[in-house]
Amino acid sequence: MNLVEFVKGRRDAHLAELCEFLRIPSVSAKSEHKPDIERAARWVADNLRSAGFKKVEILPTNLHPLVYAESLEAPGKPTILFYGHYDVQPAEPLDLWTSPAFEPAVRNGNLFGRGTADDKGQVHIHLKALESIQKVNGKFPVNVKILIEGEEEVGSVSLWDFVQKNKDKLKADALLVSDTSMLAKGVPSITYGLRGLNYYQIELTGPARDLHSGVYGGAVPNPLTILTELFARLHDKNFRVAVSGFYDGVAKLSKAESKALNSLPWKKKAFEEAVGAPGYAGEKGFSIVEQLWTRPTLELNGIWGGYTGEGAKTVIPSKAHAKFSTRLVPNQDPQKIAKLVEKHVRKLLPKTVTCKFELLSTGKPWAAPFHAPIFKKAQAALEKGFGKKAVFIREGGSIPFVTQMHDTFKVPCVLLGFGLPDENAHAPDEHIALENYFGGIKAIAHFYSDLATL
Ligand code: BES
Ligand code: MN
Ligand code: MN
Repeated sequence: MNLVEFVKGRRDAHLAELCEFLRIPSVSAKSEHKPDIERAARWVADNLRSAGFKKVEILPTNLHPLVYAESLEAPGKPTILFYGHYDVQPAEPLDLWTSPAFEPAVRNGNLFGRGTADDKGQVHIHLKALESIQKVNGKFPVNVKILIEGEEEVGSVSLWDFVQKNKDKLKADALLVSDTSMLAKGVPSITYGLRGLNYYQIELTGPARDLHSGVYGGAVPNPLTILTELFARLHDKNFRVAVSGFYDGVAKLSKAESKALNSLPWKKKAFEEAVGAPGYAGEKGFSIVEQLWTRPTLELNGIWGGYTGEGAKTVIPSKAHAKFSTRLVPNQDPQKIAKLVEKHVRKLLPKTVTCKFELLSTGKPWAAPFHAPIFKKAQAALEKGFGKKAVFIREGGSIPFVTQMHDTFKVPCVLLGFGLPDENAHAPDEHIALENYFGGIKAIAHFYSDLATL
């Protein structure tokens, strides 16, 4: 039986197995899910063994285990490293899910559940493509290394250290990742750029303790007010980040790249439908595609303090908190940006509060040329899976490992995404289109097979 027929015949079995994977609530952010994280790691390891990998390891880290597998039985053929993550974002708010987050369900050609698109569904595409090749041909066409981590959604904290200590283990001719999106349904896409991410938390302290706002209000500055004033001043009227020096390192888009990105079949209407806001605004002077993929940002992610319970409580809070982040683009340096942001924040704050400033994680941006021969192979494989020529896109999200690999080994990184921008990753009702899941298995099975002649 040929590979395409085999894959087609296994659709129901593949889907059922993916649902089993999705039922494990492997939320990396919450310690109560530690046993589920361990279970998901074991599930991936077992699955790799049945896919034909003889060497499979679960490697403990300071936080969540990595799963590593390899098959190096194709002498003279290229070595491909596939990377993905088995951890997922928290499912809250649970009441906004149409069906429960960890009870996968099919509706209207979509599979719903936390992790369907980001990233268990996409990892499963590779596991099943490789397994199918192994079952049909009795061997893998290339040397394959697999690294599936459990900390991506919390910043891949253990990974950098692991990469530095395991260079031989991870060395490969190319990195393959499926943790991104297609530009739109029916438009297979190869992502050649991601933004970097710095994540910050600040705590402002005013009075030594919470105060009665009647007894003290009027004479004591309120840290919450000061916090909101601070964030109101971090952008200018053209939606540019007001931090001094923030744009200094930003690479200017070449005319050719700007033209290529702006002529992609990207639809403003689809973008607006996915967002659902009453109006839109972004950095002046740039198209939306440029704003999303090629421009740096500063976003307030969460803000808290004072009284938020039922009824009223007249209080001047002692403390005010915020979590915020900056998305970075080539050639901004995360450490430099963190220093500039801290300096600017401290400069804007009045003497009436003290500020604890924490940098929770950093991540470099990535954008790389795509003329290596493997990109042609990727394009051809996607065409075999989806019947359409793939486009080259950049995206605004961040995957720390991609930059780490690229910096360490300088190898081509091929990002083939099978999610869609409106599939609610990180949100309630996350889903993946079944046509992209099945199309993905077909395309990826072709891809690994075609890489034998790279
Ligand atoms: N799969 C995403 C990254 C992504 C999303 C890339 C959309 C391209 C398009 C990944 O799981 C993710 O969510 N990354 C985090 C960063 C991480 C350091 C927490 C992100 O981008 O916020
Ligand atoms: Mn992901
Ligand atoms: Mn994610």
